[in-house]
Amino acid sequence: MTAHYQAHGDVAVITLDNPPVNGLGLATRRALVAGLQQAQADDAIRSIVITGAGKAFSGGADITEFGTDKALAEPNLHSVIAAVENSSKPVVAAIHSVCMGGGLELALGCHYRIAAPGCSVALPEVKLGILPGAGGTQRLPRVVGVEAALNMIVSGESVKSELIAGVPGQKLFDKLAASPESLPEEALAFARGVAEDHAKGGPLPLVRNLPCKHPQGDAYFQFARNMVKGMAKNFPAPLKCVDAVEAATKGKFADGLAKERELFIHLMWTAESRALRHLFFAERAASKIPDVPADTPQRDIRKVAVIGAGTMGGGIAMNFLNAGLPVVMLETKQEALERGVGIMRKNYEAQVKKGKLKQDKYEQRMALLSTTLDYADLKDADLVIEAVFEDLGVKETVFKQLDAVCKPGAILASNTSTLDVNKIAAFTARPQDVVGLHFFSPANVMKLLEVVRGDKTAKDVMATVMQVAKKIRKVAVVSGVCDGFIGNRMIEQYGRQGGFLLDEGCTPQQVDKAIERFGFAMGPFRMGDLAGNDIGWAIRKRRYVEKPGMKYSKTADLLCEQGRFGQKVGKGWYDYVPGKRDAIPNAEVEQMIAEHRAALGITPRKISDEEIVQRLVFSLVNEAAHILQEGIANKASDIDVVYIFGYGFPVHRGGPLQYANEFGLFNVVAAMQRFARNPLDDAQFWQPAPLLARLLAEGKQF
Ligand code: NAI
Repeated sequence: MTAHYQAHGDVAVITLDNPPVNGLGLATRRALVAGLQQAQADDAIRSIVITGAGKAFSGGADITEFGTDKALAEPNLHSVIAAVENSSKPVVAAIHSVCMGGGLELALGCHYRIAAPGCSVALPEVKLGILPGAGGTQRLPRVVGVEAALNMIVSGESVKSELIAGVPGQKLFDKLAASPESLPEEALAFARGVAEDHAKGGPLPLVRNLPCKHPQGDAYFQFARNMVKGMAKNFPAPLKCVDAVEAATKGKFADGLAKERELFIHLMWTAESRALRHLFFAERAASKIPDVPADTPQRDIRKVAVIGAGTMGGGIAMNFLNAGLPVVMLETKQEALERGVGIMRKNYEAQVKKGKLKQDKYEQRMALLSTTLDYADLKDADLVIEAVFEDLGVKETVFKQLDAVCKPGAILASNTSTLDVNKIAAFTARPQDVVGLHFFSPANVMKLLEVVRGDKTAKDVMATVMQVAKKIRKVAVVSGVCDGFIGNRMIEQYGRQGGFLLDEGCTPQQVDKAIERFGFAMGPFRMGDLAGNDIGWAIRKRRYVEKPGMKYSKTADLLCEQGRFGQKVGKGWYDYVPGKRDAIPNAEVEQMIAEHRAALGITPRKISDEEIVQRLVFSLVNEAAHILQEGIANKASDIDVVYIFGYGFPVHRGGPLQYANEFGLFNVVAAMQRFARNPLDDAQFWQPAPLLARLLAEGKQF
C-alpha cells in the first residue's frame, strides 16, 4: 500500500507512503481516497490527518506517470482534492520536510494545515515547463497573497515553512509545530481541537472561499509580465503562470480553475515542456549504467590526489575541497604548485568578494589542500586524477609512478580529452582501476563530467566514480573510448561545418548570431576564441596525418598562422579589449576569409540562418547517431545531457537528439540529403548514419 490508514482514538491518520517523496501516483491517490471514505464511514472518527511517511509530506505528482493514462486516471488529483474538501469531517494536513507541487495543492485542499519548521514549500511545475494544474495557481494566492504566490509559482523556488508562517496575515499554515519531531502529536491535538469547534456547527473552512484580490491588479500584473518576459526568454510557462494567477483575482474560483486547466493543457503540449521533462528524466537516467546494477559495491573515497596544478588540475581540486574531501596536489616543480594554488585562492577570493562564499568556509576548504613534489605522498589516496600535459609520453611516466606508489584498490583517473584511456590503463598493472574522468573547463564551474569507461575498467570503479560525481555535484555521463569521447567527437563535426560555412560565404558573426538566436550560449567562433583556436589547430594537424581523406576548411589554420589564438591573446576570429569578453568583428579577418574563398575559386552565396542552424545542429545529430550505434553512448538521452551541461546547447530544445525528434527524423534526413548535394560540403559525412536511417524506416525516434 502506498498510503496507510490508522485510527488514533477519534482521529484517523492517513499516511502517504510512496518512497522516495510520496509522489501522488494513481495507487497513492486511490489509497488516499479509500482512507477518506473509511474515515467518513466510521462514527468514532471526528477528524482526519493527512501526513507523509519518511522524508516528505509529498513531493507532488508522480512524474513517471506524465503522458501516461495513469496521470489522468480517476481519482485524479482534482478528484482527490474534491474528496478532501467535501469531507464532512475536518481534514488537517500535517506537513513536514518537503511539500511541493501536487503535494502542496493537496494540502491547500485540506481544511487546515499544520507545518513543521524546516519544510521546503514550493510549486516547482514551471521548471518542467508547465504550471500547477490542480488548483495551485488559484489557491496559493488566497493564502499567501497574490505577489508572494506569483513569485513562488513563476520561480518554482522553495520557501521554508517557518518563513511563510512568520508573514503576518498568511493563511497557508494555521499552526507551526515546535519541531518536526513534535508534529505528529501536535497534529493529533490540533485535529481534536478543530473537531471540537466543528461540533459547534458552521461550515468547514475552504481555501477556495477566501477572497483573492490585488489592490492595483492591472498595474501589478503588467509589471509582473514585464519582469517575467525578460527572464523567461524561450520558455512560455512563466508568462502563463502570470495569466493563471491573474485569473484567480478576476473572477469566480471555478472560472479561475478552468483557466488554469486550459493553460496547463496548452503547456503540456509545448516543445519546451517536452524538452524540460525529457531533460529531467535524462539527467536522472544518466547515472544509471545498464550492466552496473544499483547495488554494485563501491570503494571508499576519503582522500583525493590531483596530478598537475594547471588550468584543469586546480579546478578539479576545488570540486573536492568544496565537497569537504582532502586533496593532495602533485607537480614537478614548486613554482607550478604555487602558481596553481594561487589561482585557486584567487577563484575562492572572488567568490568571497561576491558574497557567495563565507570567509571561514574558504579557509576550511583551503585547509583541506596539501601539495607535494613527491609521489610517496600519494600512497594513501583513494582516488587520483591526472591532469598533466596532453601527451601520451607524459601520461605514461605519471601512470607508471602511480602504479608503483598507490595503494591497492585506489582508482587512477585521467582527465585526458583526446587520448586512449585503454592505452593509459595499460601503463599500469591494474587496468581495472583506471578510468577517464573528463572534466570541462572551468572545471570548478562546468556541471558535466564524462566518465570514460575503458575496456577493463571494473564495475565497482564505475559505480564509485558515478557516486563521486554526485558528491561533487556534477552530472556524469558514461562514454566509451573513442577519439573525443561523446562531446568533443561531435563538436568536431560542428566545427567543420562552421569552417565550410565561412568558405561558402558567411562571416563568423553571421554564423555565431544565427546559432545564438537558435539558443546556443555561444556560436562556434566565439567558442573557439574562448577555448583557444590553437587547440583545434593541433587536433586538425593530427587529423591531416591520421585521416588524410577528411575534408576541412583551411580558414581556421590561416587564422592560427597569424597567431590569432583567441581571447587569451586578445585576438582571434574577433578582437577583444583587455578585461572584457565582447567579441568585436575584425575587418582583416573578414578580408582573409574572402581572399581564401577567392583563392579556392568560390563565389560567395547568401546563406540563410536556417541553413546555418541546420548544418551545425544536424552535424551533431548525425555524429551522435554513429556514437550511439557504436555503443560509445549507452542511450540517446545521455548525449542530450552532454550537450546541455557541457556545450551550451539550448535547454528549451532539450538537446540535439530531442530536437531532432521534435523536428522529425524525416525532415532531418531530408536536410542531410540536401546538404550532401552541396559540392562544397562533405557528401560522405552527410550520409545519414545507419541508426538514423533505421529509426526513420521503422517510424521510430531517438
Ligand atoms: P595545463 O598546461 O594548464 O596544466 C598541466 C599541468 O601539468 C602543468 O601545471 C604542468 O606543470 C603539470 N605537469 C606536466 N607534467 C607533469 C608531470 N609529469 N607530473 C606532474 N605535473 C605535471 O593543462 P590543462 O589545460 O590543465 O590540461 C591538463 C589535461 O586536461 C590535459 O590532458 C588536457 O587534455 C585535459 N583537459 C583540458 C581541458 C581544457 O580546457 N584545458 C578540458 C578537458 C581536459
